Amino acid sequence: MEVTLSIIKADVGGFVGHSDVHPELRKRCVEHLDKAKKDGMIIDYCQGEVGDDIAMIMTHTLGIENEKLHKFAWDTFTSMTEVAKEYGQYGAGQDLLVDAFSGNLKGMGPGFAEMTFEERPAEPILIFLADKTEPGAWNMPLYKMFADPFNTIGLVIDPSMHEGFRFEVLDLIGERKIIFNLPEEMYDMLVFIGSPSRYVIKHVFRKNSDEPVAVTSTQRLFLMAGRYVGKDDPVMAVRSQSGLPAVGEVLEPFAFPHTVAGWMRGSHHGPLMPVGVEDDTPTRFDGPPRVVSLGFQLKDGKLIGPRDMFADISYNNARQIALDAADYLRRHGPFEPHRLPQEEMEYTTMPNVMKKLKDRFEAVD
Ligand code: F6R
Ligand code: MG
Ligand code: MG
Repeated sequence: MEVTLSIIKADVGGFVGHSDVHPELRKRCVEHLDKAKKDGMIIDYCQGEVGDDIAMIMTHTLGIENEKLHKFAWDTFTSMTEVAKEYGQYGAGQDLLVDAFSGNLKGMGPGFAEMTFEERPAEPILIFLADKTEPGAWNMPLYKMFADPFNTIGLVIDPSMHEGFRFEVLDLIGERKIIFNLPEEMYDMLVFIGSPSRYVIKHVFRKNSDEPVAVTSTQRLFLMAGRYVGKDDPVMAVRSQSGLPAVGEVLEPFAFPHTVAGWMRGSHHGPLMPVGVEDDTPTRFDGPPRVVSLGFQLKDGKLIGPRDMFADISYNNARQIALDAADYLRRHGPFEPHRLPQEEMEYTTMPNVMKKLKDRFEAVD
């Protein structure tokens, strides 16, 4: 059957500060999801979360960017915001940037990643949810999964993967997109995706099909709001096995906790630490950034799972490296490269400081 997987997420209030989600918000979210399932709008759901972000993972047959489903998500976040206000949660309604819903969630604040595909006889899917970072955080892992033979040996020895994959890359500032064929255009693509604050991988496709095998959320709140309103805390879904990277090949990139932007005030670099759901609460300096992975087998659109993929002890070393890297970077205090470069601070307090001091700068000969 043809099924659509939608992950729609938002931060509508943190417990405490920006570190976690209050159980009552979770409860309200599940009530809405349960009703949507009983009403037959969605086939199945799983409520996921990381840090202060709640994600609704849903399967249905409505297709992507469906008005009815997006409206449901908006109404659910609005309802959760009421709970957040009632319990005095921090930043209640933070990601709901507009007053009323219209059409679909594009430009409204909540993030979403959706894909429609023909469910295979066995369909393993991995969902990734990250906090204190931005959509470009998925660039390096996706590149490794689908293009790097040192990560994915299937690219070398599985005849059904040997041709490589196609990557759709968005230019978030120029508002345009391009498709790269890999491995042929690997060097060209790396020129762009190596700048993850601007260029982000949106989809991965097989060479011979337009059906996506991976999708990410790509909204940048500051571009929508014109000011800093929190980081974008992205989500991603990756299909796996039988001609696609194996589950272990999809997870392997996260054994290296690469440096991402988004720690403390969205203004610092830090390591992306893979954690089990028990440890999805960023507290040290509001971080470090972290990622959880929920694994599912799909069956007639039903989400059989989740399995908490990074709870595995084989990620302990990655966590230790992340903690050591966090110590190292923290010692830079307000200096780059811990703090983001000036251009990327554009929507924080930096412009105000500049404005205040602008008349005191003197020309030099
Ligand atoms: C980072 C994040 C936090 C906040 C910080 C300040 O993405 O969410 O680090 O930026 O706690 O928050 P405010 O400005 O709300 O006091
Ligand atoms: Mg928050
Ligand atoms: Mg968050």
